[in-house]
Amino acid sequence: MTAVIRPATTADLAVAYDVQREASAAAGMEIGNVNGPAGGQVPAKFRHELSDGRFLVADVDGAMAGFGAVFQRAHVAFLATFYVRPDAQLAGLGVGQRLLDRLFDGLGPVRSVVSSHVHRALAVYARNGMLPRWPLYMLNADAACAQGLDDPGVLVVPAGLGDPDLIAWDAEIAGRGARPADHHYWRSEYAAEPLWIERGADRIGYAYIQHLYESPDAPWNPETVMLGPIGVRAASDATAATIAVARAAGALAPRVAVDIPGAHPALPALLDSGFRIHYQATYCSSADDDVFDPRRYIPADTITL
Ligand SMILES: CC(C)(COP(=O)(O)OP(=O)(O)OC[C@H]1O[C@@H](n2cnc3c(N)ncnc32)[C@H](O)[C@@H]1OP(=O)(O)O)[C@@H](O)C(=O)NCCC(=O)NCCS
Repeated sequence: MTAVIRPATTADLAVAYDVQREASAAAGMEIGNVNGPAGGQVPAKFRHELSDGRFLVADVDGAMAGFGAVFQRAHVAFLATFYVRPDAQLAGLGVGQRLLDRLFDGLGPVRSVVSSHVHRALAVYARNGMLPRWPLYMLNADAACAQGLDDPGVLVVPAGLGDPDLIAWDAEIAGRGARPADHHYWRSEYAAEPLWIERGADRIGYAYIQHLYESPDAPWNPETVMLGPIGVRAASDATAATIAVARAAGALAPRVAVDIPGAHPALPALLDSGFRIHYQATYCSSADDDVFDPRRYIPADTITL
């Protein structure tokens, strides 16, 4: 049995979702759109990975055994999704390794990924040069917790759709150049609302609130708004900015979610207000320097980071 690696097509996406469900259930992963409804569903991320990334499938004996997708943004190749069916995770078969070789071929020079908690995954990443750098905590809370946060004295104001200044702030703070396709993805697939964060006359950061509850991914997130990305220029502004965005989001839907780096200064305030950690992932990278400062940037998700 040898895995044959090939580019994915639209016709593969529903099967890929089945592979993801099977592999994540076997590994005890209870997060985001990895589980959820069965039967022909296609999460929004797959469409983005197919149209704006490199999405490859591994077939064994003519059937899909695994798949993965990578986005190249500036100098960073980010592995967004990576799953192999449990019955194909066999010593000597190396389906995952074969996929990784082809997914990263010619991309980089920096390679990175947000790893699941799965030891097999962490081991594969480390052996491919992507070492664990910091934890990413997945948090959620009732909206009342977010609304109960103390007023941080900064304002959240709407930004224009496609505002070039906001794309430039993200390019600088998220550290991967201008990425208008990712902004378009957040807006079109997650009804994400772009925002500026201001203290008096000064702009201190930018953010999106993703209206997951009214997006194509609502079956996985029926009552949820998701914070992110949230970027600030100064780490000293990170807590106030995040609290302001969380308070605004709490007015929109019953549940609020955010994926926050362990080093981010707003983590204690969110936990104090009642946010709960439901999963710990690990950011892994081949670079000695972080692609972005985890004290100044909260990713949109683990797909576009
Ligand atoms: C992560 C994943 C895609 C890797 O694919 P795979 O086909 O299992 O990977 P490979 O078999 O090529 O490589 C796994 C290697 O890790 C080794 N390994 C397994 N458990 C390990 C452990 N606890 N510690 C160290 N190494 C381990 C295996 O022995 C294998 O190495 P070998 O080929 O030299 O024997 C797959 O395991 C998977 O879908 N896991 C569940 C979902 C998941 O966590 N996905 C990642 C999301 S970020």
